[in-house]
Amino acid sequence: MAKMWAGRTAGQTEKLADDFNSSLRFDCKMYKQDITGSMAHAAMLARQGIITSDEAQTLIKGLSGILADIDSGALEFDPSCEDIHMFVEEVLTKRLGAVGKKLHTARSRNDQVALDLRLYLRDEIGAITEKIVALTEVLASKAAQYDNCILPGYTHLQRAQPIVFSHHLLAYAMMLLRDKSRFEDAAARMNVCPIGSCALAGTTYDTDRWFEARELGFADVARNSIDGVSDRDFCLDFMSACAVLMMHLSRFSEELILWSSWEFRFVELSDAYTTGSSIMPQKKNPDMAELIRGKTGRVYGDLMALLTTMKGLPLAYNKDMQEDKESVFDAAETVQMCLDVMTPMIDTMTVRADRMRKAAEEGFINATDLADYLVKKGMPFRDAYRISGAIVAECIKTGAVLETLPLEVYRGYSDLFEGDLYDAIDLSACVAKRTSLGGPSVKSVKEQIAYVREQLKK
Ligand code: ARG
Repeated sequence: MAKMWAGRTAGQTEKLADDFNSSLRFDCKMYKQDITGSMAHAAMLARQGIITSDEAQTLIKGLSGILADIDSGALEFDPSCEDIHMFVEEVLTKRLGAVGKKLHTARSRNDQVALDLRLYLRDEIGAITEKIVALTEVLASKAAQYDNCILPGYTHLQRAQPIVFSHHLLAYAMMLLRDKSRFEDAAARMNVCPIGSCALAGTTYDTDRWFEARELGFADVARNSIDGVSDRDFCLDFMSACAVLMMHLSRFSEELILWSSWEFRFVELSDAYTTGSSIMPQKKNPDMAELIRGKTGRVYGDLMALLTTMKGLPLAYNKDMQEDKESVFDAAETVQMCLDVMTPMIDTMTVRADRMRKAAEEGFINATDLADYLVKKGMPFRDAYRISGAIVAECIKTGAVLETLPLEVYRGYSDLFEGDLYDAIDLSACVAKRTSLGGPSVKSVKEQIAYVREQLKK
């Protein structure tokens, strides 16, 4: 069969070329958006007297019939069609006859695809931010549960200073709040309607681009028709936000993997989110967390693929840009799957406060507090630091810990040491004293939880 665009050529192409060229197998995802856009377009054409109201009514009815039939499964995508835009138009014309051919007046597939993708991403961003909120809420309630659970905070993966588990979880909550706002920024920036840019140079018809934009819920219209059809920044904004979100989920996954190792045993993931080994009977593997970490690379790849596709393209539309969709769809789907798994996995994990406490007691993480004790008694910090370091070195040599090292030993290093030093280096006291804004004290952690919950309401 000859193509709809037959004219300049006979419209006869090799099957191999057709298959290579066709995007229907993936852009069929946007059928709703394509049809919604076409309905607004038909309404605009009638309003402007470009087609009659009766014609517009017929087109809109035909389009809603197609939508219903795709939804119900009565209408299947015809793989011989070039893309979703052609498919809808072909079915419409088959069903309505000549009037169907009027729909494509004053528009092009170039502005149609730019429109559909924006409408599609608008919905996806809504779904993603809801899932981010759900995960952040779980983090906030876990944090509320564990504001007394002391564990070492790490730098260089070496035990560093005492914190509480809530404080650590809330660090991820803060990242997720930024992720949410990154997606919201992307949504705001793509809230610009390209339809009416046509192929690239606008149109001679008296169209009303503002009407279509309003009908479709956009805040603005693309102010330059060339940019309207050649811009894919909104896809890149979206995928950058996805990449950063995945980086956060991946760091968290990495910690869950470490924490659920026999070496740490800080947490135990629910059986529902782990797997066994086919050969080693003792294994309980954190596959879901590993997959989230692994899929991060894939989402970075989606972003890099489109950045690379776009970098050499002359204005305006080029067929290379058809490659945008698979990356965008893959990123959207992957982040949602990962969020869907992460949220219940965190919600159902068992926190081993005893193991965390034990690690906190063995790691000399109160050495800074020991130095601060001497400073508060009048010693310069550098001297206090050196003495505390020497005491830690002695403890390591003899297998002792700071909490139970006898006072005589301390006094051998400085006679500023007195019996109250044990209170000063008590782990709970060390945490409680860290009252600085954003720190791990109970009060500060409660403030952070309140802050997170308040931000989530916005
Ligand atoms: N399927 C195309 C895409 O995804 C739609 C735009 C086609 N435009 C064209 N001039 N061939 O980019």
